[in-house]
Amino acid sequence: MKIKKFTLLTILSIILALFMVACGSDEEETTGDDQNGNGDSNGQEEAAGDNGEATAEEGSLEIFSWWTGAGEEAGLLALIDLFEEKHPNIEVVNAAVAGGAGTNAQAVLASRMQGNDPPGTFQIHGGAALNTGWVAAGRMEPITDLYDSEGWHDKFPQDLIDMVTSDEEIYSVPVNIHRSNVLFYNVEIFEEHGLEAPTTFDEFYEVADALQAAGVTPLALGDRESWTALHLFETILLGSLGADGYNALWTRDLDFDSPEVVEAIEHFHKFLTYVNDDHAARNWQDAAQMVAQGNAAMNIMGDWAAGYFATDLELEPNVDFGFVPTPNTTGKFMVVTDNFGLPKDVENPEIVKDFLRVLGSVEGQDVFNPLKGSIPARVDADVSKYNAYGQQTIEDFREAVLTPSLAHNSAAPAGFVSQADQAVNIFVASGNVDQLVQALQTAAEQNIQ
Ligand code: GAL
Repeated sequence: MKIKKFTLLTILSIILALFMVACGSDEEETTGDDQNGNGDSNGQEEAAGDNGEATAEEGSLEIFSWWTGAGEEAGLLALIDLFEEKHPNIEVVNAAVAGGAGTNAQAVLASRMQGNDPPGTFQIHGGAALNTGWVAAGRMEPITDLYDSEGWHDKFPQDLIDMVTSDEEIYSVPVNIHRSNVLFYNVEIFEEHGLEAPTTFDEFYEVADALQAAGVTPLALGDRESWTALHLFETILLGSLGADGYNALWTRDLDFDSPEVVEAIEHFHKFLTYVNDDHAARNWQDAAQMVAQGNAAMNIMGDWAAGYFATDLELEPNVDFGFVPTPNTTGKFMVVTDNFGLPKDVENPEIVKDFLRVLGSVEGQDVFNPLKGSIPARVDADVSKYNAYGQQTIEDFREAVLTPSLAHNSAAPAGFVSQADQAVNIFVASGNVDQLVQALQTAAEQNIQ
């Protein structure tokens, strides 16, 4: 033992150092800023850890999402790697359930939540899905304290924070912002036929007619999973009604049996005349791939397709694939935001919070989003990490009028979304405008307050 050799000065300096460590960790809890200004420090980790090294915390974390396979998985895996780097003693269980837009995952999640077996954390859309779903059911813990300790209140756009706030408590952390109203196109086909990307309905019909006359499938659709038809429909609703009209649907200030909605449905009907015959056999990736391979000219999809093109197919934005807002929606941004929160009664709430800290950090957002095709939810992310598509979208988001996605559960409660989804898919086969109008109107009366 070397204690005898300790001078009074040494003892005093140790006491002072311990005091500073204590103050330091307190301060970090309140400012949430680390040396990089990332705001992602982990007070708990610092307190428990050894000289700022990996936390000694042990346990496991189950992350539930629908991000599997092409165009979906790469971002999540990068985020998990980052988390594991920072928390090597925590075992991550990736409990993803395949199926675009949560086709299967949402049912699995519902039965787990009902059976009181919540995953550690799960993917959920901001807006109605979160607020009128698991928050209203009393199944989520508020995490406003995390926003306080990490200094996040001004690190995310207020509009986004509002989407995940109920009764003044915040319930989730947005990992990204996807844009749903994007028209992707094959640059080579457009050049070959001397066409410009359409920005209005009329331009779309002109371009689609020209392509059809030249024997090219104008619009790729893959509605084997029904949500993609609803997705196409929501972009046409926005284009036809404008942002105010579209938003008025969700407050019941505009009825679905109004002439404006009938007109939008007629546009939708016309769009469907330009799609590939085998649309019902394809999923969203198969449809996007038609554009990538030159078997169709355009695809209307959320910008997870930009991630699929760039990350999985290694295509270059503006060179191999072009992009514009869907017809009549220039300056409007249909928001899809993927969030993770803290369910009630999970085994390791502190570990879940550790994950949320990483996911909400600049570093976390910048490993995830460039691969996923989305833009960071944080306002202070590193723009240079994004490709030409991402950079343009970051800029567009700042200027645009924002509207919540219907197909991705932000605009209306789940009951409305599933009835609308069914009605729209019946319409794809039947083309019966009145039937769709009536089904949507009934769904609104039954589900939207
Ligand atoms: C959306 C989700 C995106 C993407 C897409 C296709 O609902 O927000 O992140 O995964 O579905 O599955």
